[in-house]
Parts: sequence; structure tokens; C-alpha cells
Amino acid sequence: MEAFTKQKSVWIRTVSYEELAVNTGKTIRYRGEEVALFKLGSGKLQAIQNRCPHKDGVMAEGIVCGEHVFCPLHDRKIHLPSGIVQAPDTGCVKTYATKVEDGQVYIEFPGADELAC
Ligand code: FES
Repeated sequence: MEAFTKQKSVWIRTVSYEELAVNTGKTIRYRGEEVALFKLGSGKLQAIQNRCPHKDGVMAEGIVCGEHVFCPLHDRKIHLPSGIVQAPDTGCVKTYATKVEDGQVYIEFPGADELAC
């Protein structure tokens, strides 16, 4: 019989919500993962994998428009809530849950078996 230890997801405190600039990405690193955190014009938070599925463009350096971010390298358009690359391109990035508690932004990093986009 084989025993498996499941790595549980964990909420990590990152930055102050008020200090996050609107429509400007912030790179967050935890446990070898890199996340691009965005505060949209609506005030809503979105967090996605920080590397473009095309050729590893840094998504935190992308241009935000509404609920999309454009990769800074070759302009692929990614829907922030779903992580889906918009047509005519294809692919996806992981998305991360966020929450605000006591003015601090938390990101949920999933367990090792939940990492696919
Ligand atoms: S690396 Fe993002 S579109 Fe090419």
C-alpha cells in the first residue's frame, strides 16, 4: 500500500490593498511560484501565473485593459478572471483566488496536485 501526503492550499499575505496601483501588475513570489497580482479599475483583484504560455513574457509587466492583460512581449490578450488566452491565440495561465482582510491582500496558493490551468 502506498501512502500519499497531499499538500494543502495556503493563503499568503502579500501587500497592502491601498498601496497596490490600479491596473499595474505586481509580482508576488512564493514557494517557487510567481504570480502577477492586479487591482483593476473596478477595485477587483485578479491574480494569474506570471509567465505567458507563449514564450514566458512577464505578465505583471503587461498592459491592463478592463478585465484583460496584454502580454508585453507579443501582445497576447489574456482574460484575467479565467486565465484564458483570447482568440486567435490559444492557451491559458493559472488563476489564483484572492481576498482582502484587514487591508491586506491574500493569495491562495494551491496544493501541488492542483496546479494545472
Ligand atoms: S511571450 Fe507572451 S505573447 Fe509571446
